[in-house]
Amino acid sequence: MNKALIFLFGATGDLARKKLLLAIGNLYAEGYISSDSQLICISRRNFTTKEFIDFANINNNPIVSIVKYIKMDFQNPDPIELIDIKNKFSKENDSFVQLSYLAVSPDYFLQMVDVLKKLDHEEHRIVFEKPFGKDLSHAKELNEKVQENFPEEKIFRIDHYLGKELVQNIFNVRFGNRLFEAIWCRQYIDSIQITVAESTGVEKRGSYYETAGATKDMYQNHLLQILSLVCMEPPLDMNPESIRDRKTELLRQIRKIDNKDVVFSQYDEGFIDLEPVNSYCQEDNVYEGSKTETYTATAVFVDNERWMGVPIFLRTGKRLATRVAEINIILKKPESKVLHSLLGEGNENIITIRIQPSEGISVSFMVKEPGPEMKLEKGHISFCYPCLFAFNTMEAYELALLEALNGDHTLFTRWDFVETSWEITQQILSFLPEQIMEFPDYKAGTDGPARAEKLISRYGRKWLPLLPTIVES
Ligand code: BG6
Repeated sequence: MNKALIFLFGATGDLARKKLLLAIGNLYAEGYISSDSQLICISRRNFTTKEFIDFANINNNPIVSIVKYIKMDFQNPDPIELIDIKNKFSKENDSFVQLSYLAVSPDYFLQMVDVLKKLDHEEHRIVFEKPFGKDLSHAKELNEKVQENFPEEKIFRIDHYLGKELVQNIFNVRFGNRLFEAIWCRQYIDSIQITVAESTGVEKRGSYYETAGATKDMYQNHLLQILSLVCMEPPLDMNPESIRDRKTELLRQIRKIDNKDVVFSQYDEGFIDLEPVNSYCQEDNVYEGSKTETYTATAVFVDNERWMGVPIFLRTGKRLATRVAEINIILKKPESKVLHSLLGEGNENIITIRIQPSEGISVSFMVKEPGPEMKLEKGHISFCYPCLFAFNTMEAYELALLEALNGDHTLFTRWDFVETSWEITQQILSFLPEQIMEFPDYKAGTDGPARAEKLISRYGRKWLPLLPTIVES
């Protein structure tokens, strides 16, 4: 059990209210955080602690007894009250873990480093929410400043997708099973599709999203993390550093992405679950005529022995037909041509790793239909993760927070990965101005823009449909 002093910066923001306070509450209820801990919630709003509790709707959250609210202007932060709290807590407690979580816009990260320096503690874990920086040069400046002030053991760059069970399982499925390990290469794999689709829009986060767009919000981090886990070489051992080495190595082997292999788009009005929804430009806090992309798709190639010539398609977007995050490994047709005429189009074996919802893994394969005729039909072997491990899975943020409290970096990103992912992101974003004339060009509630279909069809492939359940894919 950890005795902890937690500083949550950005406590009135969407992320804190929807995820972090719940995650900390669960850790507290499960006994990972002791009852003599303190949770200091910090934000710009002029609230008393009671008003904050009502605003954040945490009256029934077990952490309510350890919460205190402090107002801070992140532009010109004055840490005096926090220093007092820290000194008092240190006086009263011999040993404790201090966790400072920056759930604020990267605009404030630089000045917050000065605050954190004044609050520093021996057992200090500093968690930076993603994106780490606003662009490559800002990320570099930030990283230099962070590294000047804190040793790497204290720095935790979070990507909550790494806390998702099925993302962690990519590693185990690949390297723990001869069945998959043996075929995980260009000799057997035709192409890969990585999809992180959301049916929600930007909700109340319009002002943040205007500075990020789909590429910085999702592609630079979650998608490239998934890609690196799917394609990296086996690490030398299970040491987190060995795994991080392999992931960065993989990113560095991505061939410079071509202009024609990138599609940006923005959603127009449409229907989600039969209900009409706004276009992106009609959302709160979004500029009229905004040219922010809410959809990004790319084709990438990894120039190494294992993946040479295998196209890897990545896509992410808001207000798509359904919420689904999955990896589809599409296998080549059998070498023997004896059944080719019966196989038809789109009947390749597909290994699907479903990250969410209905987490699981499925493998599709062809079988003969019953009866005298020789007709093939698609069958599936399907594994449902929550069916096997019901109620045992921790939410991604909860797990990441627990690992940070324990000082374990496995689920966090190292600077060289962040830097390389920014290089890739920056490169594709340089093509954005050429495409904005087309915005908005996909209807909310669909599978995305026609231009993304064109991108993939140039390689003679098709996007798999966005489906809410695993087995149909
Ligand atoms: C966050 C993005 O990192 O991930 C959000 O900032 C996005 O825009 C969210 O909605 C998706 O996370 P999840 O866990 O709901 O898939």
